[in-house]
Amino acid sequence: MAKYRIAWLPGDGIGKDVAEAARIVLDRLDVDAEYIHGDIGWEFWRTEGEPLPKRTLDMMKETDCAFFAAITSKGRDVADAELLPELQGKGFVYRSPIVRMRQLLDLYICLRPCKAYPGNPLNYKDLIDLVVFRENTEGMYIGVEFPKVPEEFYAVKGTEKLPRDAAISLRAVTPGGSERIVRAAFEYAQKYGRKRVTAVHKANVLRQTDGVFMEAARKVAAEYPEIAFNNANIDAMGMWLLKDPYNYDVIVTTNLFGDIISDLCAQMVGGLGFGCSGNIGTDYAVFEPTHGSAPKYAGQYKVNPIATILAAKMMLDWLGETDKGAQLEAAVAEVIKEGKVRTYDMGGDSGTLEMAEAIAAKL
Ligand code: NAI
Ligand code: MG
Repeated sequence: MAKYRIAWLPGDGIGKDVAEAARIVLDRLDVDAEYIHGDIGWEFWRTEGEPLPKRTLDMMKETDCAFFAAITSKGRDVADAELLPELQGKGFVYRSPIVRMRQLLDLYICLRPCKAYPGNPLNYKDLIDLVVFRENTEGMYIGVEFPKVPEEFYAVKGTEKLPRDAAISLRAVTPGGSERIVRAAFEYAQKYGRKRVTAVHKANVLRQTDGVFMEAARKVAAEYPEIAFNNANIDAMGMWLLKDPYNYDVIVTTNLFGDIISDLCAQMVGGLGFGCSGNIGTDYAVFEPTHGSAPKYAGQYKVNPIATILAAKMMLDWLGETDKGAQLEAAVAEVIKEGKVRTYDMGGDSGTLEMAEAIAAKL
């Protein structure tokens, strides 16, 4: 029996292209793993009314971790119209499979390393190397939304003037949820010799929710006196990151702000072709590139697989296969530096699998 059982979730669109590329390098590394395919994505919404079927979740629970590429999701109107006619009007509601995985499996850390590799023509300014810790289970993404203001809300002070047709979202921030993500950021800083943790918030406006977050952040920070701690407002942070990205080391923030900040950081190190992430809980994790299914490129083997390959590196590290993880990263860095094989986003015309083969050839 293989040492690791890995749930393999290519999804749809370019997800299938990049997952195939990742397997080329994992197979070359000879990871002692069994990869178990799981259904996920738009096709299963259309035909079953569930983009993350229960059989997939059940299978995941029998594995050590999961590797996920990308899926298509669409807005409410389109989603309902694309359901098979026999499923329409039966009460199926589209829910983001990724958000669900994070919540159901309590994958509270969204870890997004943003590291520039020398020679990448897409690098912003000089070599950036920072890490974003995004809270992954609460905040703005708890999924509690109302199409119009519920009557009982008008009893709450401050809502008297709300128009009745306002759609409402609730944001939940708990002391426990905040503490554990901030602690994860500090633990990471300590383990990898990072010097500073920056907590990002909007506590001057979102006084209650970000008040809770910052209180937890300060409390945890006090336990790590050797690591510098500071904080920034989310809006200012966008500005400072563009101006002086080298000032930041580890960034920790709530769900929505982390979603935005991590895309900004990913763009500074090459964009969607380079952004990788880990959704990590206490004993399970799902690794993925941050990009989506880019339908216009689906099946063309044209997009950059490096984001996905770096997600595989994160998975190897998390499994404890740190030597293999380091080898893989070194191979990626070498191919980028040589500049002979480049996908279209890097200004070249190499294909997805060609890039994967070039990386595998360095292993
Ligand atoms: P996207 O990330 O799929 O693609 C946007 C554009 O970025 C592409 O058209 C392409 O030009 C570029 N791009 C993306 N990945 C690339 C790669 N590996 N190499 C080179 N260029 C790359 O985002 P978009 O177009 O907003 O969404 C498409 C679909 O993906 C939607 O249905 C969306 O809901 C879904 N999505 C899924 C995610 C996931 O599976 N985690 C995340 C984001 C979007
Ligand atoms: Mg995002």
